[in-house]
Amino acid sequence: MRSYILALGFLLITYFVKGQAIIEGISYDESKVPDYVLPELLTCEDGTKVTTVAQWEQKRRPEVMEYFASQEYGRTPQDKIAVTYETLTENRMAMEGKATSKQVKFTFTNGKNVVEAILLMYIPNNRKGKAPVFVGYNFKGNHSTTLDTTVFYSPSFYFVKSPDHPDWKRGNQMNRWCYDKIINRGYAVVTMCYHDIYPDKVEGLMEHSVSSLFPSYDPNSTAPDRWGAIGAWAWGSSRIVDYLETQDWVDLNKIAIMGHSRQGKAALWAGAQDPRFKVVISNDSGCGGAALSKRVYGENIARIIKLFPHWFCPAFQQYADNEAKLPFDQHQLVALIAPRHVYVASADGDWWADPKGEFLSVYHAGPVYKLYGLSGFKTDVQPDIHKPIMMDVGYHVREGEHDVKDYDWERFMDFCDIHFNKSE
Ligand code: GCU
Repeated sequence: MRSYILALGFLLITYFVKGQAIIEGISYDESKVPDYVLPELLTCEDGTKVTTVAQWEQKRRPEVMEYFASQEYGRTPQDKIAVTYETLTENRMAMEGKATSKQVKFTFTNGKNVVEAILLMYIPNNRKGKAPVFVGYNFKGNHSTTLDTTVFYSPSFYFVKSPDHPDWKRGNQMNRWCYDKIINRGYAVVTMCYHDIYPDKVEGLMEHSVSSLFPSYDPNSTAPDRWGAIGAWAWGSSRIVDYLETQDWVDLNKIAIMGHSRQGKAALWAGAQDPRFKVVISNDSGCGGAALSKRVYGENIARIIKLFPHWFCPAFQQYADNEAKLPFDQHQLVALIAPRHVYVASADGDWWADPKGEFLSVYHAGPVYKLYGLSGFKTDVQPDIHKPIMMDVGYHVREGEHDVKDYDWERFMDFCDIHFNKSE
């Protein structure tokens, strides 16, 4: 028995360092972070130094956008896709009368193929005028975010996973959606299952994805800049904003996007492309999100494209085990969102997502914020746990694992309170 316990202990120590599984090729050793040089934010390809907002917006910013479109997420097609909205339910007495809940079905079509998605909304009743809104995808269906039995299964359920699957039960992810706290603070929150927009499967289920609706659609395309799932999710969040623009209860100057993990990656890319997102929040987004790729700490490019090749464009593959060659890095993605506000959150136990690398991206985006006369971080020293920084950009690291906790939401709302009240 004793030797059995010793063997088990040895095994656990071998496979886990502080709770992180040891995976070949993955480093959690700060001393092994290479001496990297981050690509210059404010120097154009032709060597011109950027000293004005006009130069940034007209010359350098388009160059930086082009890196992400041509080499990481792929190019977002610009064709307009027809959509209709059908209100399925509206309940003015939701959450014991505190909120109005609403479910609206989006039907996207190109005349041949149809993709359906359901947006679930909670809107505070006790408000003066229009409401600020958080837009965010959920992972396991709208019904997983609440015990409310009137909330429908998301359309993607029936082909991605059966709603009876134990992981996908009603209310299973409600710990990530503190609707009560959000409504109490006067915010509306709208959510959709990300699979409705692009089912997250390596093998594609392409006919169910919005990609299939575009004229350029070719499921076998290997074009280097062919957009991937992250691009499609970002596109979908902009379509949610299109719908919000039809609603008189929405304060269009106060729309925030919040994404966790893979959706934190998509939220940053959505924020870079769509100026209607006034605050962009990335929670534990890690590799391909807020974390600097060139640190090669935790999840790296080789690993992410091995498991999730469909998230990125084919050109990204050239940087597997070759981060030093990247002509851009993720701090530039944050900078693309300026002068709008970005908030990045990490969890200290989430080494996979490289909390320090997530913080440094925001720090290194600072020069672009400064160009606009706004405040970036003063120091590149990561703050302690539960010591959020709230400038024109923000950051916190929370205790615990990879997840979305009430603590995270509370800080997101603090940050939005600061910036949304300013714009009144
Ligand atoms: C995996 C993946 C991460 C991603 C995460 C998630 O862990 O490697 O890149 O952020 O899933 O989306 O939960």
